[in-house]
Amino acid sequence: MLHAHPFALPTSISAGHRHLVRGTTTSTEGDEGDQHVHYYSGISSYEDGHEHPFRGWTGPPIPLANGGHTHEIVGQTSYTDCHSHPYRGQTGRNS
Ligand SMILES: [Fe+2]
Ligand SMILES: [Fe+2]
Repeated sequence: MLHAHPFALPTSISAGHRHLVRGTTTSTEGDEGDQHVHYYSGISSYEDGHEHPFRGWTGPPIPLANGGHTHEIVGQTSYTDCHSHPYRGQTGRNS
């Protein structure tokens, strides 16, 4: 089934602050029984006078006990203002 996932993750602290990495993945055909992944991209929340572009691919589906699935998101924002922010978490359920 064609679907996407929302996501909203706080980044790690770098240079004394953190950002929010939030958005919706691109839509992809698949379900919890296969190995599909989703591309995502966006711009972080504005903190400490700047923001960071980010982009990447999710991990494979992680089945949920009550149906549906999520994906792991692990990455690092682009460098802005001489630093970047790692982030790690899971997307929301497919919708
Ligand atoms: Fe930053
Ligand atoms: Fe998915």
